[in-house]
Amino acid sequence: MRRRYLLPFATFVFIIVTLGFLFHFYSANQVKRELELKRTSQVLRIFLDGFARSISTGYFQWDDFYEALTSNREDFIGENLGYIKRDFPYVKDAKIVERLSWFTEEGLYQFKVEDNRIFIYFNVWDSKVERVIEDRVAFVEVDLLSLLKDLEISSFFIPDPDGDLVLEGVRVRSLIPRIKPLQIFYSTGMGILSALFIGFMLMLYSEKTTRVKLLEKISMIMEEKDPYTKNHSKNVALISLALADRLGLGDKEKKLLEEAALLHDIGKIGVSDEILNKKGKLTPQEFDIVKKHTEIAYNIFSDINGAELLAKIIRHHHERMDGSGYPDGLKGEEIPLLSRIIAVADVFDALTSDRPYRPAMSYDEAIKVMESMPLDERVFRVLKESYKEIMRIK
Ligand SMILES: [Fe+2]
Repeated sequence: MRRRYLLPFATFVFIIVTLGFLFHFYSANQVKRELELKRTSQVLRIFLDGFARSISTGYFQWDDFYEALTSNREDFIGENLGYIKRDFPYVKDAKIVERLSWFTEEGLYQFKVEDNRIFIYFNVWDSKVERVIEDRVAFVEVDLLSLLKDLEISSFFIPDPDGDLVLEGVRVRSLIPRIKPLQIFYSTGMGILSALFIGFMLMLYSEKTTRVKLLEKISMIMEEKDPYTKNHSKNVALISLALADRLGLGDKEKKLLEEAALLHDIGKIGVSDEILNKKGKLTPQEFDIVKKHTEIAYNIFSDINGAELLAKIIRHHHERMDGSGYPDGLKGEEIPLLSRIIAVADVFDALTSDRPYRPAMSYDEAIKVMESMPLDERVFRVLKESYKEIMRIK
């Protein structure tokens, strides 16, 4: 992924993760509200039923009250309505009113919700519940606020005519928030963390791929100059890495090896095209010029901060174990191991590729030729054991 896409992508991840968590909390709160509403509804219904039933049983299924109503004994009626208000704490008001058309003469009581208030209408019966007062009924208003408070409902719901929920006919507002500040904080935090994590991983990945791609590009530009070695650097890198794997090298060394292998012949930039593309054999002078490519590469990289080791490995990729190589004639262990690996891979790929002065050898022929060359024995042995397998990846 290109670096300029990183920020938009991280922002996208942030938004998706944050919204995902917010939605999760919102749904969970919604479910909680609904469950609480259902539970509260049941509690309220059971309470109001018991409440109405006990008022009816105590006062409105009673011969004395029935008689008082038929004979209009206002003092008796007033006194008893006063008892109701006093003895039942949630009675806000108690009166005798004209019967309303909707309230039938059957049953003991009926609830009515109006203007967000709960009223109970009672039929007034004699003690045997046989005769009912036909023209008038008793009426009680429930003190809803105290009731909800005592039933511990008011910590979840409060009556509100504009509320979006309905509790036994009464419009209420929920005190359970749709989303809590802590949940917003948590969701945003998770969004930021995810974006950072993904951004960081992508940056690591893009840095790695950019660097390797850049090196490949450099070696490709170089190979354009010398068409006979097209893909040579890439092959040398592949073979070197396969050898390094089998030699048990660590990741850091392998990374350095890959870079050095990709760039090992970059010094040929400083060698003229006529010499590089010459069809016949090179003269000793021309060969001396070609040899310079190791030092040219070294000079390019040794000045770059952090590339000193890379410069050294590239410088010595033409050294031989017996000191017959160039540019410094190093022997055996004096030659860095990574240079010795590149040397084996370089020779093997060169022998098995077409050259202006000879056609490609078969893998078996190349191995036979290499037997007598002063290459690192251990590295060569690994190649000999596994070149068939390695070349399959080429
Ligand atoms: Fe070379």
